[in-house]
Amino acid sequence: MSAPRKIIIDTDPGQDDAVAILLALACPDELEILGITCVAGNVPLPLTQKNARIVCELAGKPETRVFAGCEAPLMHSLVTAEHVHGKTGLDGPSLPAPVMPLESQHAVDFIIDTLRAEPPASVTLCPLGPLTNIAMAFEKAPDIVGRVQEIVLMGGAYFEVGNITPAAEFNIYVDPEAAKIVFDAGAPLVVMPLDVTHKALVTKPRNDAFRALKTPVGVAVAQMTDFFERFDREKYGSEGAPLHDPCVTAYLLRPELFTGRHINVEIETASELTRGMTVADWWRVTTRKPNALFIGSLDADGFFALLTERLARL
Ligand code: RIB
Ligand code: CA
Repeated sequence: MSAPRKIIIDTDPGQDDAVAILLALACPDELEILGITCVAGNVPLPLTQKNARIVCELAGKPETRVFAGCEAPLMHSLVTAEHVHGKTGLDGPSLPAPVMPLESQHAVDFIIDTLRAEPPASVTLCPLGPLTNIAMAFEKAPDIVGRVQEIVLMGGAYFEVGNITPAAEFNIYVDPEAAKIVFDAGAPLVVMPLDVTHKALVTKPRNDAFRALKTPVGVAVAQMTDFFERFDREKYGSEGAPLHDPCVTAYLLRPELFTGRHINVEIETASELTRGMTVADWWRVTTRKPNALFIGSLDADGFFALLTERLARL
């Protein structure tokens, strides 16, 4: 067995972030979480950093290092998503307040120091929320960009268009300037847009399988997805909650579950109407340089089988 892959999860929990974090924590032989860095997004930073610690304790991993990062986007005022995730950001289960400490170092400095300390191309960044922390780190320490093994992020949309505006997906919309910095940086990039995450739906049998684990984690995940599916059912008529962020973790574990194209993806930052749109050249109609593996589909049954089997380990 090769050494576990070193990752930093950057996140704005959020129920789907929580499931992504739980999946990663359930796989210590394959993924070594160097730290979880929190950013404002679904809910403000004081809640995202608290929720990240709640999730680590739910997983029985209070030794995990959790850092607070940026509390607002680079240029715009913060847009949150309590209408989707509830006022705590983790509505659904009733989970105890965290006891484990928050690290004192700022998340951006942790990202910089870690990338400088670890061997080149040995750390993967896994952004699950707005890209403010990642962009700030790249701006503050440009030397780290070339040291990143890969960025595997949830964000954007093409055929699925927007979920927060007609044109934009939430993570990119909240901080489009940050997204432009990350997408233009040149680090190897894998993008999980709504095009694939809207195919990872927690249907009732899949939710029942979480509950049937009869563990605190299984029951909590079932309650989380029961809660946050309301938004997508109402808006899209979905059969269940789309597990956006866990697609990132699952890609790290079993990339063969996913298919996509290496294409050019640019971020709209100038237009108010289409702010945060990911302009994905899926049909390669431009000569713009490909900069991302843009994922379009997944083996949903394989994804849920992996997720349920690994969550059972916690
Ligand atoms: O648009 C979905 C994304 O926005 C997910 O990462 C969700 O957690 C929110 O951050
Ligand atoms: Ca998220």
